[in-house]
Amino acid sequence: MNIKISKRMSQPDFQGAFTADILKAAANPSLISFAGGLPNPVSFPVEEMEAATNKVLARDGVRALQYSGAQGYPPLIKRICERYKKIMDLDFSPKDIIITNGSQQALDMFSAVMIDPGDQIMVENPTYLCALQTFHLYYPEVLPIKLNEDGIDTDMLAETVKTQNPKFIYIIPNFQNPTGLTYSENVRQQMAEVLKGTDVLVLEDNPYGELRFSGEAGHSLHYFLGEQCVMLGTFSKIVSPGMRIGWIACKNREIFDKLLAYKTTMDLHTNIFCQMVLEQYLEDNDLDAHIERAKKIYGEKAEYMISCMEKYFPEGVTYTKPEGGMFIWVTLPEGIKAVDVQAEAIKEGVAVCAGDPFYENERGVRTMRINYSNSTNEAMDKGMKILGDVMKKMI
Ligand SMILES: Cc1ncc(COP(=O)(O)O)c(C=O)c1O
Repeated sequence: MNIKISKRMSQPDFQGAFTADILKAAANPSLISFAGGLPNPVSFPVEEMEAATNKVLARDGVRALQYSGAQGYPPLIKRICERYKKIMDLDFSPKDIIITNGSQQALDMFSAVMIDPGDQIMVENPTYLCALQTFHLYYPEVLPIKLNEDGIDTDMLAETVKTQNPKFIYIIPNFQNPTGLTYSENVRQQMAEVLKGTDVLVLEDNPYGELRFSGEAGHSLHYFLGEQCVMLGTFSKIVSPGMRIGWIACKNREIFDKLLAYKTTMDLHTNIFCQMVLEQYLEDNDLDAHIERAKKIYGEKAEYMISCMEKYFPEGVTYTKPEGGMFIWVTLPEGIKAVDVQAEAIKEGVAVCAGDPFYENERGVRTMRINYSNSTNEAMDKGMKILGDVMKKMI
C-alpha cells in the first residue's frame, strides 16, 4: 500500500511526538518527572464535582445529555464575563465568548480563521510549543521576537512591525510557558503603544494568570487595545484540565463569526455535560478560595524547588524565579546542550524538558523547562540532586 500522508502532517519540524513524549514521561511512575505542565491533583475538587454531577443530572439530565449550541452553555459564559470584570477589569459580554475544548482548540480555531499560507505571524521566542505546532499546520512565516526578563523585546517588536507585515502576535504575558517569566507593566504599555493604530492583532493566552503567588498583576493587552486583542482562557490550571473547558474572547464581530463557524465544523460544540457540571461547581463553591489553596501549594513548591536548585546545581547554571504559574527556566553554562542533559537525566530516572522545541528557529540550546507544580518535596530533592550531578559530570 502506498499511503500518502498530507504535507501538513509530514513537515519535518512538526513536533507532535515531543508533546506525546512529555505526557508519557509525566505518566510514567518509575520516572521523577519535571517535564510536563500538570496541575497538582491535590487541588482537584473531586467530591465537589461528584456533587455537581449528581445535581446536574437530577435537575437537567436531558439537556446535559443532548446536543447543544456551538457557542457554549450560556450560564457558564456569563460567569466567564463576570470573572473578567472582577479579576482583570475587562468588559466582555456573552456575545464575545465561545467555549472551547480547552484553550488548545481555540489556538487552532484562531489559526484557521487568520492564517493563510505564507502569512507572517509573530511569537515570543521561546513560546508554548503546542501553539507553535498549531500555527505551523497553517504554513505561516513565523517571526520570532526575543523575550527578555521583563517581557517581549519592544524594540525588536517595533522594528518587525515597521519592516514586515505580520497579522498577529501570540503572547503569554503571565508566567509564560516555558520560561515562567511575566511582562512588566512598562513593557505591556510600550507594546500597546507600538501596536495601537496598526492592523496587527494580539492573541493573548492567559492560562496561568490567576496563579500568582507573589508580586503585582499587570494589565492585559486587551485593557489597552480593546478589540485589537483576542483573549484565550481556560479552567485547566485553576479547576481541572481533564474537563477540557477553555474559551476564546473576541470582540471583533467578523473574526467572532468565523471562529464560531469553524468551531461548528470541527466538533459542533464543546461537551455540554462537562460545561454544565463545571457551572454547577462554580455556583456551589468558592472559586477564589479554591484558587487561593492552589496558589499556596504552588508558591511553596516553587520556593522548595529553587532551594533544591541552589543546593545541587553547579556554579554557572542560572534559573528564573517565577512569581506564579508552574515553570522555572534553567540556563546551562556555555558549551552544554540541554538535549544532552535531558538524555543523561532520563537514564538516571529524571525527566526534564530541553528548551529546543519551544524556539521557532534554534536547536542545541542551553535552556530547559522545569515544572514544579506536580512533584512532592522528596521527588524535588532527589530529582534536583540527580540533575545537578548530571550537569556537574557534563561540565
Ligand atoms: C500557554 C498555554 N496555552 C494553552 C494551553 C492549553 O491548555 P488547555 O488545557 O486549556 O487546552 C497550555 C497548556 O499547558 C499552555 O501552557
